[in-house]
Amino acid sequence: MYQTLLTELDNGTLVITINRPDKMNALNKDVIEELGKVLDEVYSNAEIKAAIITGAGEKAFVAGADITEFSELGHDGGMALAAKGAKLVFDKIENAPKPVIAAVNGFSLGGGCELAMACHFRIASENAKFGQPEVNLGLIPGYGGTQRMTQLIGKSKAMELMMTGDMIAADEAKALGLVNHVLPLAELLAKAKEILQKIQAKAPVAVSKIILCVNEAARGEKEGFANEIKRFGECFATEDMVEGTTAFLEKRKAIFKGK
Ligand code: COA
Repeated sequence: MYQTLLTELDNGTLVITINRPDKMNALNKDVIEELGKVLDEVYSNAEIKAAIITGAGEKAFVAGADITEFSELGHDGGMALAAKGAKLVFDKIENAPKPVIAAVNGFSLGGGCELAMACHFRIASENAKFGQPEVNLGLIPGYGGTQRMTQLIGKSKAMELMMTGDMIAADEAKALGLVNHVLPLAELLAKAKEILQKIQAKAPVAVSKIILCVNEAARGEKEGFANEIKRFGECFATEDMVEGTTAFLEKRKAIFKGK
């Protein structure tokens, strides 16, 4: 169905694999458009409860935007490229109503690091490498990297990484809070699926609201506290809240319906 992606639905988790391994899974126009489409599917298809984004092969998650498409862009073309990516992919991932996590299986550079950072959280293989090398090309990150990296690892480290263009290894990325877990490559996908199975057993409406609230906190939105109060109240009006509290009192496991 897709030319540049592989998709597989496994127990409610859609595994989205960017599949251009001979080009380090670089994000060309087709990948961006197809990611946009598959994310629409994640939003609208009730059978999809969660998603994993990963890269094909053992070398790269995504080694950035496709540099071969940069030469003709110019000022307006550059802006349009960044704006289109934000709308079709990066903001859509961040604001997804279901958990979307990155399983980073190798180089995660430039737009690849930005793609991972747009996800709700990240896990990585031991061989993963992260960086924003745009400065080497006379560019800055354009798919949200200046904003999300600063949110995730703080101003000083973000400044250093983006100004030097240095790559960091998975362990350092973990120490900085950029990734949550580091595993052998062979165990990466299984771990991502295991985490998402655990989340899928929780109340889906509450999970959606956690995503909204935490995103607002990360963006420093003034209304974050007020919105948390509002959404906390909304949870009390769900069947799942009744089920969750009743199950606790009856000493049984809750079965949530997402209502
Ligand atoms: N855009 C387009 N093509 C890319 C690419 C990108 N961002 N990253 C890698 N490729 C291509 C290479 O051009 C090469 O293609 P070829 O076989 O047709 O020559 C192929 O992928 C393999 O990459 P190669 O550089 O030979 O592999 P390597 O193991 O020596 O190095 C990297 C791997 C990731 C360190 C290196 O490819 C790299 O630095 N990529 C660019 C990273 C970057 O600057 N990203 C930010 C873009 S804004």
